[in-house]
Amino acid sequence: MNVYDSDKIAQGLDPLGYRLTDSPDKADMIIVNTCAIREKAVQKVFSYLGRVAGLKQARPNLIIGVGGCVAQQEGERVLKRAPYVDLVFGTHAIGRLPSLVDRIEKKRQRVVDVEMGTRIEESDGAVVPRGETEVSRFLTIMHGCDNYCTYCVVPYVRGRESSRWPDHILAEIQDLVDNGVREVTLLGQNVNSYGQKEGLPDFTALLEKINDIDGLKRIRFTTSHPKDLSANLIAAFGRLDKLCQHIHLPVQSGADTILKRMNRNYTSAQYLDKINQLRTICPDIAITSDIIVGFPGETEQDFAATLDLIETVGYDGLFAFKYSDRPNAPATQFSEKVAERDMDERLQKVLELQETITLAKNRSLVGQTQEVLVESYRLKPAGGNGGTGSGQWTGRTSTNKIVHMPADEAPQGQAGNIGPGSLIPVLIKKAFAHSLWGLPDGSGARTAIGPKGESSHAA
Ligand code: 5AD
Ligand code: SF4
Repeated sequence: MNVYDSDKIAQGLDPLGYRLTDSPDKADMIIVNTCAIREKAVQKVFSYLGRVAGLKQARPNLIIGVGGCVAQQEGERVLKRAPYVDLVFGTHAIGRLPSLVDRIEKKRQRVVDVEMGTRIEESDGAVVPRGETEVSRFLTIMHGCDNYCTYCVVPYVRGRESSRWPDHILAEIQDLVDNGVREVTLLGQNVNSYGQKEGLPDFTALLEKINDIDGLKRIRFTTSHPKDLSANLIAAFGRLDKLCQHIHLPVQSGADTILKRMNRNYTSAQYLDKINQLRTICPDIAITSDIIVGFPGETEQDFAATLDLIETVGYDGLFAFKYSDRPNAPATQFSEKVAERDMDERLQKVLELQETITLAKNRSLVGQTQEVLVESYRLKPAGGNGGTGSGQWTGRTSTNKIVHMPADEAPQGQAGNIGPGSLIPVLIKKAFAHSLWGLPDGSGARTAIGPKGESSHAA
């Protein structure tokens, strides 16, 4: 979401004459777009600001801005902690950025805007790719969250849930496709409740419309709250040919007592039932999740239930985090905090277990042909895997696994046909924990991936 917001920020500043640069030394303005999801992310912001402070000393006209969730959370306090900052703008202020910057340029005043409304009124127009063609882009379809999980800062820093209008979303995707984008990832804290507040057609209806956009090859989305994952959306995985075979379905914990105290509104059994439904419709669907270890009151038994659930589901990948107290989040007041060293140990166990599962899953793909959307080419690092030539292509399977392909080992005539945005069959030769390695399938066959995940070869 911050990647998308950063693009919006750059787009908003373009009419003022600002262009992106890759070096802070050359910049007239540095905007730090921030994340407040865990304390560590907030610490990173202030240590980064400490580093750019030196640049401001050397060049007093440099404008330093802080945007996003930390700006929203800390407001004026950012100016106290980092006196060289000129601008603090919250998550609802991106559209007002041009006028805020104008004020700073003209009056050299320090400005704070952390006002939040019930909706974010957006500027029109797509954030079109800058420079080189980008194959895959993020696109926010909803703002905010009304779920109030007890550990989470999002409802306080991103405000109430609101959905963008479907015609804006569709026009934006069309614009992206016209600029060479082939895959979009639709973003929202809980895409399943898309449009409900506004009385709009639901998320599945939106997916159907996006699926009809010519030139678009793949659709992804994140995140779905398990409590709201509807039968209708599950069915879409069997029906919509562009919808990728991957769902990110954060479970957070495998223990029902903890889920209750997290205010997640589902039990582990209900969660597992949704997983079964997904796999019935789409047997090869990749499933990833988020886990929090050390939520206040989490016992060894609760943690064991989480490990059990991870094994039962057999995730394709996991993001695991140590619980972190957040301002305003109710869990911050909960007693029975788990000791840091116990959290470290639990995190380690989760990561180790998942690594074995991921590796086994990836290995099961060796010998299979997977459809890969090629994203980029780069010179191979010295000592890289396989191949003797100079370059390698990288892309992703529908299940969101990264695949590297050596450019020099492509069968005759194939390499020339590959470029960013091509969707090609790739024979998987090797599997690692975080990537696959394969060769463009030289059989001349085109791989068609059926809606249920079965791949078939048609000569
Ligand atoms: N502490 C640790 N992890 C958190 N997450 C959200 N809030 C916290 C917190 N206070 C994790 C959840 C969420 C992911 C985006 O970040 O797992 O799904
Ligand atoms: Fe946070 Fe829960 Fe909303 Fe996700 S659903 S953003 S975890 S409050």
